[in-house]
Amino acid sequence: MSRRARSLPAAMGVLAAAGMLAAAGVRAVAEPPADTVDESATSIPAWLDCAGCHAEIDAQWRGSLHAAAWTDPIVQAEFARSPGPSCRGCHAPASVAAPDDSAAAARGIDCAACHLRDGWILAARPSPAGVLAHPVRAAPAQITVDACRGCHQFNFADDGIHDPREPLQDTLAEWARSTAADEGRTCQSCHMAEHRDADGVRRTSHALRGLDDPSLLAEAVRVEGEAIADASGVTVRFELRGHRIGHAFPTGDLFREAVLTAHTDAGVRDTLVLKRWLASTIDPDGEDHHIREVDDTRVPPPGTGIVRDELRLEDPTATRVQWELRLHRLAPGDARSRGLDAHASGLRVIRGEFPVRRRR
Ligand code: HEC
Ligand code: HEC
Ligand code: HEC
Ligand code: HEC
Ligand code: HEC
Repeated sequence: MSRRARSLPAAMGVLAAAGMLAAAGVRAVAEPPADTVDESATSIPAWLDCAGCHAEIDAQWRGSLHAAAWTDPIVQAEFARSPGPSCRGCHAPASVAAPDDSAAAARGIDCAACHLRDGWILAARPSPAGVLAHPVRAAPAQITVDACRGCHQFNFADDGIHDPREPLQDTLAEWARSTAADEGRTCQSCHMAEHRDADGVRRTSHALRGLDDPSLLAEAVRVEGEAIADASGVTVRFELRGHRIGHAFPTGDLFREAVLTAHTDAGVRDTLVLKRWLASTIDPDGEDHHIREVDDTRVPPPGTGIVRDELRLEDPTATRVQWELRLHRLAPGDARSRGLDAHASGLRVIRGEFPVRRRR
């Protein structure tokens, strides 16, 4: 697979795969948000069994990656390689106070992580029935991106290896630059959509539409291009732009990478990797080296730019080019080396084909 990192200085190429760095066991992150690790905030008292009264929401949540944020095999494999006390603060807040309690950890990001503080239920719109059922405190921020910020925007830890001024995950900052922010579309609009139930009550889906939803993925990016033949083969020009998405593609964890592959019927292929590239480079003051981002080949947040690139297929007989964009939760090699073969092939985002045109 050819790795194309535009404007990546050749000397950095060797170090540049984020996957390699992560594989070396250097995942290190800043502290999780203080309020999710407050013990009183995270334990649900027995009398307040959310599932007993909110069965539908509970069922939605159980199918989400938030519920699996600790048990998820990719997380467990990484925790085994680079365990850190901070991981639980974002992946299993209920287990921060009780690291040996595996049942608490298995709850992942539970109802309490988002809704319970000091014995109060936080809700954007308290209702008379809700206030009768339990203590409810109005929390207008629940319907803003601030409800997601603490865990989805954070810097590298100050571990001497990484540059702690740089984001490890940058989803909120990407959102702030995007047209989604201008248009008032929050994280919840796309990932926790609202609807009215049979009684006209406003409900929020807790199923957390994400990578498991092919229809969400299919709308994330628009791909345009053309395939032009010359004497020795075909040059395929691509333009990728963010479509119904509120941040870069891919966003989130540094493991994420998208791969655009083009091939001819004879099986000649070429690929383009879209990801953040990390390397150890010299600090601005020239004193020391730290790992930081040296290139970003992802599709930028909508409204902030597009990716333009070419693939080359040395096949002079081709009459068409088929292409496919796939999203990998972690690079295929990293998946296999961790025994996570089911994740090696990635997820289809979108695919298509271009007829090959001859240059006149
Ligand atoms: C004894 C039943 C009961 C339990 C237990 C319960 N709830 Fe509720 N809750 C309700 C009712 C009734 C409402 C209002 C009507 C509705 O939304 O269905 C409500 C409403 C809410 C609301 C919306 C705010 C409002 O005022 O309408 C939130 C948020 C909420 N509950 C969260 C939770 C969480 C989190 C837990 C567990 C920590 C929980 N509830 C446990 C019955 C309960
Ligand atoms: C307590 C920390 C925490 C909070 C608060 C939080 N998240 Fe997450 N979120 C996570 C973690 C950790 C994961 C990754 C879980 C995994 O991959 O196993 C995640 C994953 C996701 C995913 C990917 C799901 C998928 O199926 O691909 C989406 C989307 C998401 N969160 C949206 C949100 C939104 C929207 C909010 C705010 C309403 C929010 N999160 C609040 C920690 C949090
Ligand atoms: C306009 C719709 C839209 C908005 C707004 C939006 N997202 Fe997304 N999000 C998407 C789409 C589409 C994907 C799937 C493609 C991808 O993974 O990048 C996605 C994927 C994700 C993922 C999974 C990334 C991965 O590869 O595991 C996370 C986490 C996430 N979004 C968090 C957020 C947060 C936090 C916000 C608010 C700051 C937000 N999103 C706002 C559309 C949106
Ligand atoms: C990632 C954060 C997050 C988690 C985890 C979460 N919620 Fe919510 N919840 C929200 C947001 C955001 C809203 C929308 C704002 C509001 O209504 O307060 C909401 C709304 C609600 C509402 C009111 C709207 C409705 O559909 O009735 C209830 C009730 C509720 N949640 C219960 C729960 C229960 C029960 C759990 C656990 C099974 C849970 N939530 C887990 C973030 C979360
Ligand atoms: C400040 C909050 C935060 C802390 C601390 C944190 N994470 Fe995460 N982590 C997240 C969020 C949010 C996501 C989801 C992003 C996405 O879907 O791309 C995530 C995703 C991941 C993933 C990718 C999971 C998948 O679905 O493929 C791995 C692996 C991971 N984290 C491991 C760790 C480990 C190990 C630690 C401790 C050293 C840790 N994280 C600490 C917030 C955090």
